Amino acid sequence: MYTGVVIVAAGSGKRMGAGRNKLWLTIDGKSILAHTVERFATHPEVEEVVLVVSEKDEADVIAWLSKVPYRKKVSLTLGGAERQDSVRAGLAALSEQCDYVLVHDAARPFVTKQQITEIIAKVQEDEAVVMAVPVKDTIKVVNRSGIVEATPARESLWAVQTPQAFRLSLLREAHQKALLEQIHGTDCATLVEWLGFPVKILAGSYENIKITTPDDIWFGEEIMRRRRERE
Ligand code: CTP
Ligand code: MG
Repeated sequence: MYTGVVIVAAGSGKRMGAGRNKLWLTIDGKSILAHTVERFATHPEVEEVVLVVSEKDEADVIAWLSKVPYRKKVSLTLGGAERQDSVRAGLAALSEQCDYVLVHDAARPFVTKQQITEIIAKVQEDEAVVMAVPVKDTIKVVNRSGIVEATPARESLWAVQTPQAFRLSLLREAHQKALLEQIHGTDCATLVEWLGFPVKILAGSYENIKITTPDDIWFGEEIMRRRRERE
């Protein structure tokens, strides 16, 4: 079984407002990018990592990567305007012997080794698996006038994260269809759902946050501190 990983890092981090890609900000003394890439590139069941970056960051990523011990497992490719474009570029750069692919946001540095092991095992049975957690809040569907139209039952609502894992040929087909039909999904699973293929949930953890706004850096430091204490 040959498993590849696409890590998308080609955003600009507008909501963080750091003046450069948020992935260079540090948590526990190490960049968010380094935390995430290290987690996958040092995993024994991951054969290769394609890191998708923007032209703006490319030179800095090359300089950083040249200094890390796991650099041989990582290749770089350029992303696009939308996350979906970046994922598609990453899929195209994976080597042909890949059977399965995990797609992951570089902005989620708290995924654990155990979770990666679990999703790799599950995708071999189910072919399309996404990490998710039950939502804690009550979610309302609201119309443009600000009026609540519906309140879906909370038991049926899950907040989806990454990694998301797929048989590579299935995800490539889903992306090809989306490109041809010019449709846009907010995650990979949506594109696979549009093929009519069942997508399974794998219960993840509330710690697997996406670093998006400045508050998340504080949460992130706290998550790291607690993990250090537990070790
Ligand atoms: N991403 C990407 N290519 C894009 C847009 C996003 O590879 N064109 C990546 C980001 O680098 C990030 C992940 O997708 O790792 C999730 O996106 P998000 O958290 O929205 O990051 P940004 O798009 O960088 O942030 P913002 O939306 O605030 O600008
Ligand atoms: Mg974004």
